[in-house]
Amino acid sequence: MMQTVLVTGGAGYVGSHACKGLAAAGFVPVTLDDLSAGHDWAVRWGPLVRGDVGDRTLLAGILAEHRPVAVLHFAGSIAVGESMTAPLRYYRNNVANTLVLLEAMQGAGVNHVVFSSSAAVYGDPQTTPLTEDHPCQPVSPYGWTKLMVERVLADLAKAHDLRSVSLRYFNASGADLAAEIGEAHAPETHLIPRVLDVALSRASAIEIYGGDHPTPDGTCLRDYVHVSDLADAHVAALRYLLDGGRTAVFNLGNAKAVSVREVIEVARRVTGHPVPVRSAPHRAGDPAVLVADARRAHETLSWQPKYPSIERIVEDAWRWHSTHFAS
Ligand code: UFG
Repeated sequence: MMQTVLVTGGAGYVGSHACKGLAAAGFVPVTLDDLSAGHDWAVRWGPLVRGDVGDRTLLAGILAEHRPVAVLHFAGSIAVGESMTAPLRYYRNNVANTLVLLEAMQGAGVNHVVFSSSAAVYGDPQTTPLTEDHPCQPVSPYGWTKLMVERVLADLAKAHDLRSVSLRYFNASGADLAAEIGEAHAPETHLIPRVLDVALSRASAIEIYGGDHPTPDGTCLRDYVHVSDLADAHVAALRYLLDGGRTAVFNLGNAKAVSVREVIEVARRVTGHPVPVRSAPHRAGDPAVLVADARRAHETLSWQPKYPSIERIVEDAWRWHSTHFAS
């Protein structure tokens, strides 16, 4: 009998890759997604229930019908900049709706949850690379929503038998190796798909947000992690919980600092397009450097990224992007 897992936001970028990983690992992913940001074409490895994570009645029905062994909770709003101007939407979607989900899980006796957290919980790093013990002082409402849910999950672990893993993603990037699914946000704010849009002539130039950061080439350093490696980490976290693992948080990254200019250079080589650039002001809330120390995930979850190179990440992103967005 195959075990079922409820995947909220399973039609989204990381969620859909996790569904593929779950299916490959022998689980049945049941996606709950309102398709406000996700895509029905991305739900290919299990059923899709279209609806809101904040809908108590719907959740009770899904949990009773599918009896999942765990929930992978991806659903939420993800744009850091937008959270500055529409904070209530972020607290509603990311915090209040998660409380409804957790209450429904408790009501149905579902005791395991893997939560999509973010490097945004740290704020401006005092040291680099970041370990999970680095102080958390988010600089955006988005980051606060993720930290608040982590706090709720920590308290639940003390009071009840609901155990969780919070995964703090650094820069999710790349696409499924078979190019069945990939990254398609609207509007797109992320660097790699925007650079690939220029290569496809869907945009004329890539704006570089700030060239005078305190980094070797003046542009921000980030830790890009392949979305298929993130998918593997979710399966590992699920197995860890099902094997009785304790509530924990893990960074997911490659401990490699890659600058905005380096990403653009790699994209030029991979796509063969010149990719013109334009200078632009700093983007509010962008730390100069965000790099993960992910040793805890290596040690506790036995997670090892298979595709750490930025070349491979951009190649896989390009294979999908150039097919999906070709006019
Ligand atoms: N950038 C540009 N031009 C663009 C887009 C991005 O120069 O057109 C730069 C950004 O300033 C940043 C880097 O490229 O330095 C990467 O930007 P992304 O928007 O791709 O990713 P972020 O690092 O801003 O955001 C990621 C996740 C968030 C998470 C955040 C942690 O997408 O969910 O890391 O701060 F919260």
